Amino acid sequence: MNSAKYIVFDGMDGSGKGTQMKLLRETFGDSVVFTREPGGTPFAEEIRTLVLDNPRAKELTPLSNFLLFWAAREDLQQNLVAPTLQSGKHVFSDRGDSSTFAFQMYGEEHEELLAVFMHMQELVFAKSNGRHQPDCYIVFYLPAEVARARALHDAGRVGNHFDRRGIEYYERVRAGFRAFAERYPVIFVDATQSPEAIHRSVETILAKEMNISQKQ
Ligand code: TYD
Repeated sequence: MNSAKYIVFDGMDGSGKGTQMKLLRETFGDSVVFTREPGGTPFAEEIRTLVLDNPRAKELTPLSNFLLFWAAREDLQQNLVAPTLQSGKHVFSDRGDSSTFAFQMYGEEHEELLAVFMHMQELVFAKSNGRHQPDCYIVFYLPAEVARARALHDAGRVGNHFDRRGIEYYERVRAGFRAFAERYPVIFVDATQSPEAIHRSVETILAKEMNISQKQ
């Protein structure tokens, strides 16, 4: 039986996810295929540039963003996630549909998109991996004010226009991840710990819950 797992790592901006993805790459190397959202395939990377870097993207409605993130995800699923899982390798993704749920539906206050969201999951995931969503979402979780302070600090160096929002927005996104966890297999990790402690927590979760360890 193919035991390849599809794991999404997610969190608010400022949750230290970038550092954790780097540590995971160091730990798991080529035994896992790493990808990211939006992006991960040549075409989805084009959508990433459009959505995150194009100055006009600021004018997009939340629904346009929602659809563009799903379009990028469809390309990623068909061209990278599905073939990788079929080959028996695990996929670790930096963000996933949990971000669309938390950012577009909760952050941008479009919870009425839930039915469309669930339909998208069926269309996109069932076709690519025969299931309805990733096997597990590991969400780096922390208070909104800490996340925002860290994200603003980081934005000074590399930020995109999603980074520069008020505290209420961060609270809504945080609530979005909690609401997502009521429906889907989410494991929260306390992101206020040191990067090393967070990494150890993630390793333990992967070994215990997903049967994935670096020695494979
Ligand atoms: P990125 O620079 O990769 O941020 P990070 O390093 O924090 O992952 O930008 C990704 C941004 O895109 C981030 O602000 C969250 C946003 N996003 C959404 O709003 N919806 C989505 O579905 C996805 C995948 C990302």
